[in-house]
Amino acid sequence: LKTDAAAQPLKGKHVLITAGPTHEPIDPVRYIANRSSGKQGYAIAAAAAEAGAAVTLISGPVTLRKPDHVDVIDVESARDMLAAVEKALPADVAIFAAAVADWRVANAGEQKIKKQAGAAVPQLALTENPDILSTIAHRTQGRPPLVIGFAAETENVIANAKAKLAKKGCDWILANDVSPATGIMGGDSNTIHLVSADGIDDWPSQSKEDAAAMLIAKIAAAIGKDRP
Ligand code: CTP
Ligand code: CA
Repeated sequence: LKTDAAAQPLKGKHVLITAGPTHEPIDPVRYIANRSSGKQGYAIAAAAAEAGAAVTLISGPVTLRKPDHVDVIDVESARDMLAAVEKALPADVAIFAAAVADWRVANAGEQKIKKQAGAAVPQLALTENPDILSTIAHRTQGRPPLVIGFAAETENVIANAKAKLAKKGCDWILANDVSPATGIMGGDSNTIHLVSADGIDDWPSQSKEDAAAMLIAKIAAAIGKDRP
């Protein structure tokens, strides 16, 4: 860990990050989930800690090593993730990198569903999960001063990201193209477009670590601007 004050632009700041997928149970042994490695969120947590921030990482189920000097809180479902985020507030910056399952199973079984010869296949009834980013960004009290979301899109990347920025009430959206042709899903690189009220900033294609470092530098600059 660096000790030089200049190298720690986020010293004294609390940065809250969500990462990974959520798992929504069908029964005790089965679940539905989004595709997510958690790599980008974990890289951001590591970069924020490196910059001197106190970091809380609310993580869905992933297979990654926990970053050093980061308080990791493991959760499974979207509802658990929202509760953990609310408990971890207040924060100076909140970054929602998790690929939250949009729906959960309303009729989840308490016992393992058994196959039965000749019987109909089970029907899953879905119900919408809470939107964690939108819930936190629309808070009237205790809203983190800088709220950042992601938009993983397979088409109309910028238009969809602009719509999400407005709808979710966040300050920045980090948009990226995850259409199968890019091969990006689950990979080690990322091509981000930072969409905010100031316009669109196209970042180069780079490793998730370099993208994390670039994000932390932008956050440090933005937070610094507000200082007296
Ligand atoms: N997000 C969240 N809680 C949810 C769904 C999404 O916090 N229940 C956050 C994600 O972490 C991300 C942002 O919202 O930062 C955008 O997620 P995305 O799935 O792209 O947007 P949705 O609004 O769910 O729209 P859709 O999946 O239909 O594109
Ligand atoms: Ca979604």
